[in-house]
Amino acid sequence: MLDLSRLDFIRRGAFQRLFGGDPTSRSAGTLTSRVVCVASGKGGTGKSIMASNLAVTRAQTGERVLLVDFDAGLANAHLLLGLAPRYDLGHLIDGGIELEQALVEGPQGMYLLSGGVGRAALQNPTRRELDRLFRALRPAEDLFDLIVIDHGAGMSYGTVAHLAASSTMILVTSHEVTGLSDGYAIYKRALMVNPHIRVGLVVNRAPNQAAADAAWDRFRAACQRFLASQPEYIGWVPADEAVSRSVENRVPVTLGEPQSPSARALREIAGWGAIELARTSSAFYDRALRALR
Ligand SMILES: Nc1ncnc2c1ncn2[C@@H]1O[C@H](COP(=O)(O)OP(=O)(O)OP(=O)(O)O)[C@@H](O)[C@H]1O
Ligand SMILES: [Mg+2]
Repeated sequence: MLDLSRLDFIRRGAFQRLFGGDPTSRSAGTLTSRVVCVASGKGGTGKSIMASNLAVTRAQTGERVLLVDFDAGLANAHLLLGLAPRYDLGHLIDGGIELEQALVEGPQGMYLLSGGVGRAALQNPTRRELDRLFRALRPAEDLFDLIVIDHGAGMSYGTVAHLAASSTMILVTSHEVTGLSDGYAIYKRALMVNPHIRVGLVVNRAPNQAAADAAWDRFRAACQRFLASQPEYIGWVPADEAVSRSVENRVPVTLGEPQSPSARALREIAGWGAIELARTSSAFYDRALRALR
């Protein structure tokens, strides 16, 4: 749970006003969070590794970061961060708790909203449930500089709503043709719902740079042939046993083995310039709510 006394970045009064009051009563001119979605076509490509390391790396620089594990029902970001949250976004959907109760503090002072494990009903939230969830999440935009959203694989209704609202997405793929093909499908879909979205492609778990670059060439060729736009190639992460150890140890690799090849690559990707600019002209969760309609 969010401990008010330990959060120097949230002034108590402002916090209570936000959580106690009407979440729509944001004062004019207040800057809201930047939001970055991490998604992939295929499962197991490394989204949660990317998202959790992105969150801690940005938090290390002093940013107020919230990681939302939107892989509802099959969440695992808390495991990667060594956390045991009591509540998750299912509880927010159910409406029994406030946002502040659902947040847990993680490494480097980042916060996690867990996605919940083993609740089948969470895997496909209805429009009404998503509506409740997005409303519950709105106050987070005033509390954090950066919200990183770790999605489940593919294009669930909830993921589509996020991508329609988001200015920025990191698309994680493997170097293999199956991963690339599914990644292409999700890129195309993202452009359909949001032609202005800025997408950065990460080739994860590649055996070497040549394989990663070849994967990017293939991806780019397909985009050039069939679409009027292409993502940015923002980096590749080597297949690295340090990542497996980090999962075992429940400590993000950028903290546990910061000099490993994967940690270096993940840090570099966390510096992608678009993350600085990932703010939308209106509040993100208002846009996501509109996308549900
Ligand atoms: N660069 C890497 N090197 C070695 N192993 C990796 C690497 N990236 C990911 N892995 C392994 O792959 C597993 C799956 O990664 P992760 O959980 O991030 O995938 P995901 O895309 O979030 O999966 P899901 O679609 O189920 O949410 C990790 O537990 C880790 O063991
Ligand atoms: Mg995941």
